[in-house]
Amino acid sequence: MSQRYYIVGNWKMNGMRAALSEARAIDRAAQRLPKVEVALAPPVTLIAAMRESLNGIGVGAQNCHHAEKGAHTGDLAASMLREGGADFVIVGHSERRADHNETNEMVKAKAEAAQGVDMGVILCVGESEAERDSGEAEEIVARQLAASLPDNAQRLSVAYEPIWAIGTGRVPQTGDVAKMHRRLREVLVEKYGDEEGAEVRILYGGSVKGENAAELLAVPEVGGALVGGASLTADGFVPIVVAAS
Ligand code: G3H
Repeated sequence: MSQRYYIVGNWKMNGMRAALSEARAIDRAAQRLPKVEVALAPPVTLIAAMRESLNGIGVGAQNCHHAEKGAHTGDLAASMLREGGADFVIVGHSERRADHNETNEMVKAKAEAAQGVDMGVILCVGESEAERDSGEAEEIVARQLAASLPDNAQRLSVAYEPIWAIGTGRVPQTGDVAKMHRRLREVLVEKYGDEEGAEVRILYGGSVKGENAAELLAVPEVGGALVGGASLTADGFVPIVVAAS
């Protein structure tokens, strides 16, 4: 298992050029904390500018199309994102599954498209509040993950994000995070075998802040965090990176 925590900021549909100063401040802080792997996934419009001006952190995209090219107006192929400066792609975020009807099959195809051009992949899964209340969350998310996983584990990370915890300030009990991450590890080992299945980092996402990061990162099988709102500023994000160092 990789020793370094992976702390990724997903800027979602936030950030104009003025926000590059925040990214630069995050980059400077990350360079002082080499024990942590840090990355940002800004809107596509900022990827190239971040790539050019940041030295210590990864830069990624929030989505890609599964096809290599073709008649898909408004979409971007993984190779285009890579040429534009992205070195990883987030796939299957619950907001895309909800807003764009992305299925597990589409998420798998997107992950494989990104791997096909040697990009990292962060594959998101998570349960709704009703699914959590049903008492079946672990099995529901395990099935979602199994159906979304690419055929190989090359440069793959998984992000467990309970939908009800995203942007709400609500965070699951650490015991529930532990149970879920343990179950997801079983799915990964079943798919890729003991060695490769153990190497895939499982990030936690959903209302991670400087104040709760250390506790969440201490949960067994939590290999990092996928951070939304708190990643938009250095003041919000750097304390999370520090907690991981
Ligand atoms: O991708 C990030 C997650 O959706 C978490 O967002 O930290 O704003 O809750 P949040």
